[in-house]
Amino acid sequence: MRRAALLLGLALGAASVANARAPDLAQGRAVALGGGAGDQQACAACHGADGAGVMPIYPRLAGQAAFYLYKQLLDFRSGERESAVMGPIARRLTPREMEDVAGFYAAARAHYSPPADADGAQLQQGGTLAASGSEERGIPPCANCHGQAGRGMPPSFPYLAGQSKDYLAGQLAAFRNGSRRNDPLDVMRRIAGQLDTSDVSALAAYFAHVYPPARIQ
Ligand code: HEC
Ligand code: HEC
Repeated sequence: MRRAALLLGLALGAASVANARAPDLAQGRAVALGGGAGDQQACAACHGADGAGVMPIYPRLAGQAAFYLYKQLLDFRSGERESAVMGPIARRLTPREMEDVAGFYAAARAHYSPPADADGAQLQQGGTLAASGSEERGIPPCANCHGQAGRGMPPSFPYLAGQSKDYLAGQLAAFRNGSRRNDPLDVMRRIAGQLDTSDVSALAAYFAHVYPPARIQ
């Protein structure tokens, strides 16, 4: 029931954006590389021109659904997702620039190489929790919403595959402490609240280690 309401809510939200004009990818590229009209830093300085992310703390944007990316920019602007870095940047973008740059990164393709420091037991723990959850502990399988091996279910459920451990663990902590509260029906805040530190490390290690969509060889 809750899941049906969530899916319906997300679908309606996505439909209202989908009805808007198609993103202008050339304008989106100009924002990504040049920062847009509001004098903010070029997105590429941190996220890369290809959306791979230049350091582990900067999320990968390449091939993430345009609706999801656009929604994050709105949420950084409103403060429902708190970020000292992204808040001011999002507040200087116009809604049109947000749509265009979201479209640009959704269409982008980027390299990925798995982290070298994999711990087999941890990957297995994370992979099992991601695929099957834990009924007795009230943790649903991540795959229910984020797809098989974290590949995402556009337009509302982001891919997790190929994001860095630091970024993934940071977002789970942000859902847990409420500094990120832009998840419909508190869905991620509830789930993050059920995870202990060993779960978080294992899930972050696992998703960082699986291949993201929109990858170039
Ligand atoms: C100075 C570095 C920096 C710049 C410049 C920057 N970002 Fe970010 N971006 C970040 C960081 C750090 C985060 C993670 C914030 C958090 O902790 O929630 C982020 C997160 C995001 C996210 C959320 C991704 C996700 O998976 O949820 C989007 C979308 C985004 N940025 C888009 C942009 C766009 C578009 C621009 C250019 C207009 C831009 N960023 C410029 C550092 C930057
Ligand atoms: C019932 C659906 C659902 C389930 C199950 C679920 N998630 Fe999520 N998750 C979401 C939604 C929706 C978002 C995006 C919220 C938003 O709009 O910003 C999200 C966002 C995230 C993010 C932030 C991604 C980013 O790019 O910033 C992480 C990390 C995450 N989930 C991890 C997990 C993990 C780990 C599990 C399994 C333990 C899980 N999720 C299970 C619905 C779900």
